[in-house]
Amino acid sequence: MAEKHPFEPFRIKSIENIKLTTQAEREVALEEANFNIFKIRAEDVMVDLLTDSGTGAMSSEQWASLMRGDESYAGSRSFDRLAKVVDGIFGFNHFIPTHQGRASEGILMSLLVKPGDIIPNNTHFDTTAAHVLAREGIPENLLMDFSKDPDFDHPFKGNIDLDTLRHVLEKKSDSIPFCMITVTNNAGGGQPVSLANLQGLRELCDEFSKPLFIDACRFAENAYLIKQREKGCSKMSVREIAHKMFSLADGATFSAKKDAIVNIGGLLLMNDKQLYENARNELIMHEGFPTYGGLAGRDLDAMATGLIEGTDDDYLSYRTSQVAWLFDSLKDIGVPVFGPPGGHAVYIDAGSFLDHIPQSEFPAQSLAVELYLEGGVRTVEIGSVMLSFISPDTGELVTPPLELIRLAIPRRTYTESHLQHVVDSFKAVVERKESLKGLKITKQPSLLRHFTCDFDWVENAEIKENVEAASSLLS
Ligand code: F0G
Repeated sequence: MAEKHPFEPFRIKSIENIKLTTQAEREVALEEANFNIFKIRAEDVMVDLLTDSGTGAMSSEQWASLMRGDESYAGSRSFDRLAKVVDGIFGFNHFIPTHQGRASEGILMSLLVKPGDIIPNNTHFDTTAAHVLAREGIPENLLMDFSKDPDFDHPFKGNIDLDTLRHVLEKKSDSIPFCMITVTNNAGGGQPVSLANLQGLRELCDEFSKPLFIDACRFAENAYLIKQREKGCSKMSVREIAHKMFSLADGATFSAKKDAIVNIGGLLLMNDKQLYENARNELIMHEGFPTYGGLAGRDLDAMATGLIEGTDDDYLSYRTSQVAWLFDSLKDIGVPVFGPPGGHAVYIDAGSFLDHIPQSEFPAQSLAVELYLEGGVRTVEIGSVMLSFISPDTGELVTPPLELIRLAIPRRTYTESHLQHVVDSFKAVVERKESLKGLKITKQPSLLRHFTCDFDWVENAEIKENVEAASSLLS
């Protein structure tokens, strides 16, 4: 068993009760949701690892910040406070507040992406890709090949493939308005990007005169993993590393629902004055006046406090060791985990775990369903249900290389006992894994099917609607 116990550097002041359910009750909930666990009511979930986004627990200081929030329409004190904290951590010349990460992406892409443009990234998150596609651009994922192998051990499996990027830039520079990099790489196992890789990316962007934007959702976790894993960084503070990371970029999109530990909020940051002025105009049209964006004054204040707490080295030591503890504990009982542990989640290779279920019968969905049934644990499928699509070029079904489930750990929300319950649930599933069955989709919408489609066990499946056209994009 994993030896290091993650010590929670906080004590609990306010609690939210969890309804304990029986397996029979969960069976009913699953059938009512047609085996799509997005459609299960949160109240019927005992440990919810669906996402780490907006699901963290705020501190007493953050709750106090909510009370201090200044709700003035223009020039709010809370905005000034946020601006000071943002400047200290990110160091860009300008920023605007937005209601969440995808709003920042929407503004950035609407200003910079034209039809036919290519936007390189290590791996675009689904909303980022969707915003590029919405402007008829092409989201290009340039992850290192070894990073797709769940068993390959490398400290920075989020690194972008600089050689391939050079080729793309040499051939298609005119179609590339800017480059992006996502830290940590959520769509690729939650793996970090090294400072050396960011430095190399900066040099390449300079050589081809391209701006560089960081998708900074989990920048603090990335910085902490740099501190732990990159040569010469162990004595730096997380804020020093973060500052170094951002000094290599021209701007960033940020969902505060992750590393700023708030339930809602985002930022769009940049050095370029003209881009800022254009972004501000978009903001006023779609989100709100520049000193509140898409948020209330209290949200800005809670975000400022959350940014300070979310970049604290002791907090991040606990946070990453909690993820590593779950990773090690699952590995010890024979669950194939995607290694090494990343910053916010543990990913499981369900395709190899349930190798008796073919990809066409969604092994990762089957595992997610079984974990809910066994222990009321909600995870998310990141496999053929979510990611497969019909190629517009060939008309053929394109499926992802791996059938994964993600166990995303909300920040400061669950203790080691909750996660031990997750491990115990897995233990029971490991013992009966040969008995797990495949699923078929019986009904699906034309887009974003993973949120709302219906499933049934293969032998019972009666196809009701539109299941041939796989969805193209995600949330
Ligand atoms: N970029 C990354 C890397 C993300 O993980 C997310 C959201 C976004 C952008 C969009 O931010 O939700 O504030 O609009 N990820 C969540 C998740 C939804 O569950 O991983 P948002």
